[in-house]
Amino acid sequence: MRAITIAEPGGPDALVLADVPDPVPGAGEVLVEVVASAVNRADVLQRQGFYEPPPDASRYPGLECSGRIAALGPGVTGWAVGDEVCALLVGGGYAEKVAVPVGQLLPVPKGVDLVTAAALPEVTATVWSNVFQIAHLRPAETLLVHGGSSGIGTMAIQLGKAVGARVVTTAGSAQKLAACRDLGADVLVNYREQDFVAELGDHGADVILDVVGAAYLARNVDALAVNGRLVIIGMQGGAKAELNLGRLLAKRGAVIATTLRARPTEEKAAIIAAVREHVWPLIEAGTVRPVVDRTLPLASAPEAHRLMESSEHIGKILLTI
Ligand SMILES: NC(=O)c1ccc[n+]([C@@H]2O[C@H](COP(=O)([O-])OP(=O)(O)OC[C@H]3O[C@@H](n4cnc5c(N)ncnc54)[C@H](OP(=O)(O)O)[C@@H]3O)[C@@H](O)[C@H]2O)c1
Repeated sequence: MRAITIAEPGGPDALVLADVPDPVPGAGEVLVEVVASAVNRADVLQRQGFYEPPPDASRYPGLECSGRIAALGPGVTGWAVGDEVCALLVGGGYAEKVAVPVGQLLPVPKGVDLVTAAALPEVTATVWSNVFQIAHLRPAETLLVHGGSSGIGTMAIQLGKAVGARVVTTAGSAQKLAACRDLGADVLVNYREQDFVAELGDHGADVILDVVGAAYLARNVDALAVNGRLVIIGMQGGAKAELNLGRLLAKRGAVIATTLRARPTEEKAAIIAAVREHVWPLIEAGTVRPVVDRTLPLASAPEAHRLMESSEHIGKILLTI
């Protein structure tokens, strides 16, 4: 098969389309013939040499895909050759074929085409696990979503609204904030010009989904409501910062940091089952929709990475095989 390989870590041109051996599905896995994959920030870090795939994972980038099941590994039940699926991956999505543990498969939701379905696994699993399973966002609470126009942000805004939360979001331009408003965000904060703590008002945020990390840690703690939960999933603003425990203690606050990729297969399967139960019906009802900036062919993976690094996109960037 052909796959995007990273011979040497570096800039976008380090991504090279090459002939490589086909993956072989192991016990409890299926082989998916990939129709589309999607670009995630983690792929950029992997390409730069800053994010090693876990041991045993495919060395090729790509944390999600959509496609058709081409073969079943030993012991697989409940799925058939030809089924149209999308999947959360630990790597290997930028390829014509990928082996996937069955627990990470999802049916393509009704009303979503097979290519667009590649935009869903990573954002739904990340937002559901962090905002709902870990931070327990409840109706009428306030959710602060940093980077509301990102792939993650566009899903977090919609799911927050779907459960009846008030959603406050930050983005770096008026155009991006307009997209966040169209997705239902109640309060829009241009982080280049405004202070999100002030814009939140007296109550603060019951849950914060943060992709900035160190540079926002102190302000995020200031932004928390009493009993607030800050979940950090990105470190675009650095990894090391000082935490004022006095301020956190006064809020009775929680600071949690997580990564989805490193979780064991069984935990990923539990998250995917919850996504299928809680998020898929919202997508099929049209309450929540995938947001796709653009779709490029797999060979244009370098261009797709340049676009992500420029941060000009809104929503997901897809790669088609
Ligand atoms: N831990 C996990 O399991 C996990 C899983 C998936 C994703 N993530 C993380 O989630 C983040 C989003 O991922 P993605 O794939 O959706 O990437 P993406 O579409 O490229 O989004 C990056 C976002 O970060 C925003 N941002 C950068 N600096 C900011 C700041 N100072 N204040 C507010 N927002 C800021 C950008 O906003 P502007 O463009 O408006 O500047 C942009 O919306 C990444 O950091 C990624 O690593 C983590």
